[in-house]
Amino acid sequence: MNPLIRKARIQDVKAMHALLLNNPEDEGLVLPRSYAQLYSQLRDFFVAVDRDTGAVLGCCALNICWEALAEVRSLSVAKPYRGNQLGRLLVEASLSEAVTIGIYSVFVLTNTPAFFARLGFVEAPKDDLPQKVWGDCINCPKFPDCDEIAMTITL
Ligand SMILES: CC(C)(COP(=O)(O)OP(=O)(O)OC[C@H]1O[C@@H](n2cnc3c(N)ncnc32)[C@H](O)[C@@H]1OP(=O)(O)O)[C@@H](O)C(=O)NCCC(=O)NCCS
Repeated sequence: MNPLIRKARIQDVKAMHALLLNNPEDEGLVLPRSYAQLYSQLRDFFVAVDRDTGAVLGCCALNICWEALAEVRSLSVAKPYRGNQLGRLLVEASLSEAVTIGIYSVFVLTNTPAFFARLGFVEAPKDDLPQKVWGDCINCPKFPDCDEIAMTITL
């Protein structure tokens, strides 16, 4: 494997859709996204691709929420490629983009807090996040019984 992290392209969407649809054992860890969402939010996404084959191995999105706040979401690495730092590289690319845009506070809602803690995120009370953040939750199958942990990082 010879990975490259780059911004997503329209040709990547089908693979991103499949990545976010979940392995059965990942159920609940990442929210599936519709094609409509993926096309309209494509510019939020980074992908990890194999330079040799062009295969999409992982994806991650940075969603701008408010004046000084963004969310890392839709992070998924294909099962056979986990443990190769692709998740880290995808999140770091998203955080780097946040800084480029001028946003220095990023959060994640996650069931894999240990992974994000390794990247410098710290647990935060959900109530600390502004109301605006919860707009998407109404579309979540888990709503209103959210079991995700809020974590933030200051860049
Ligand atoms: C979580 C996920 C993205 C990690 O991807 P990955 O490419 O395997 O992770 P990396 O190889 O970049 O790991 C980076 C570091 O985090 C650690 N790590 C990876 N997954 C971890 C986990 N689930 N729990 C704790 N630590 C983890 C690695 O050991 C590595 O540690 P190091 O700094 O000592 O090397 C991947 O397991 C995945 O897609 N999971 C299912 C979907 C999911 O949970 N998405 C997050 C939604 S918010």
